Amino acid sequence: MQKLRFALIGCGRISKNHITAMAVNADAVELVALCDPIETNAKKQADSYLEQSGKTAPIYADYKKALDELDIDACAIATESGYHAEIALYCIRKGKHVLIEKPMALSTKDAEQMIAEAKAHGVKLGVCHQNRFNAPIQELRKALDAGRFGKLVNGTARILWNRSMPYYQQAPWRGTWAQDGGTLMNQCIHNIDLLQWSMGGEPDTVMAMTGNYIRDIQAEDFGAILIRFKNGAIGIVEGTACVYPKNLEETLSVFGETGTAVIGGLAVNRVETWNFAEPAPQDQEVAALAGTDPKDVYGSGHNLLYADYANAVQTDTAPLISGEEGIKGMKIILAAYKSQKTGQPVQYDTLEFSSLEMSTSDIKQ
Ligand SMILES: NC(=O)c1ccc[n+]([C@@H]2O[C@H](COP(=O)([O-])OP(=O)(O)OC[C@H]3O[C@@H](n4cnc5c(N)ncnc54)[C@H](O)[C@@H]3O)[C@@H](O)[C@H]2O)c1
Repeated sequence: MQKLRFALIGCGRISKNHITAMAVNADAVELVALCDPIETNAKKQADSYLEQSGKTAPIYADYKKALDELDIDACAIATESGYHAEIALYCIRKGKHVLIEKPMALSTKDAEQMIAEAKAHGVKLGVCHQNRFNAPIQELRKALDAGRFGKLVNGTARILWNRSMPYYQQAPWRGTWAQDGGTLMNQCIHNIDLLQWSMGGEPDTVMAMTGNYIRDIQAEDFGAILIRFKNGAIGIVEGTACVYPKNLEETLSVFGETGTAVIGGLAVNRVETWNFAEPAPQDQEVAALAGTDPKDVYGSGHNLLYADYANAVQTDTAPLISGEEGIKGMKIILAAYKSQKTGQPVQYDTLEFSSLEMSTSDIKQ
């Protein structure tokens, strides 16, 4: 089978996970270009790829030039979030498959356009919500699919992390409405995606209160969200960048009539509670999934995400986190922003909103 030839667009902090994922999946994918206007960033990742895979790939300051000059099948986009839609649409229109970092965009309109244009151009759009591949989360998915929870009542996503001012000062785009959003959009989106995925995947109404308490950024450093799903279950989000003095936990809890699961750890990587009315043979093994925390909160899910995405392209099937899936967490957060701004519950299906419609005066405490 021919390998999927990737251009990596954006070689900053998260790109190392893409580099490792491409090296680990060398049977299915190949890095053919590293694109970044900051040459030292691209060079660092090119060196890392050489070290991990024994292969070299050229560096481009302008990704459009790379697309013109090289034989590229797919683009992995890991730039500042505010550039995602523009770059993705350019690549899609050139007929390239696109695997994009979260959040896929910062407005419902952009995300919907990306989904529609990927479909029209016959390319696969995938979104990096790599925690869906964590072993305990995969087990949770199986238990949900098997109906082991019975009627779902509620679920909770708690993201109790610390992002200090030096983190925000490292890159001026962080915490801005135009390029990032606040802690809900940047840090909490993974667990919000897992919450909606676990609660039936069809949000109905969203209510939220968010605020900026401590960090000197434009957007929120704390947010509380209530989500009513179409099946009646309620999701609760507690997300913060302000925990003193360091990251505490990222925990997903699911409560049903006949089952309770709590997946915690630093980044939803540990089974903490696993109780079902009807036992299953694998339960003891699953309950023992109390592995060590990953070395950083990004985890190692990108490796499995790339394998899944490459397989989806090769077999012309949907990746686990397609554009249609990736939009959901982002849209819940935009609904939360709108709810904070208006003081009203927001209907998910009809929402049209952009982070650019928020201003700091909407959230300042
Ligand atoms: N999946 C995850 O767990 C995870 C973790 C961290 C960040 N992210 C996401 O990844 C994205 C990048 O975050 P980061 O922390 O790596 O940011 P960063 O600031 O460290 O890196 C962004 C890079 O993109 C480059 N860039 C900007 N415009 C470009 C262009 N036109 N062409 C090519 N490169 C361009 C910048 O020069 C920079 O090197 C964000 O959307 C963020 O939300 C995801």
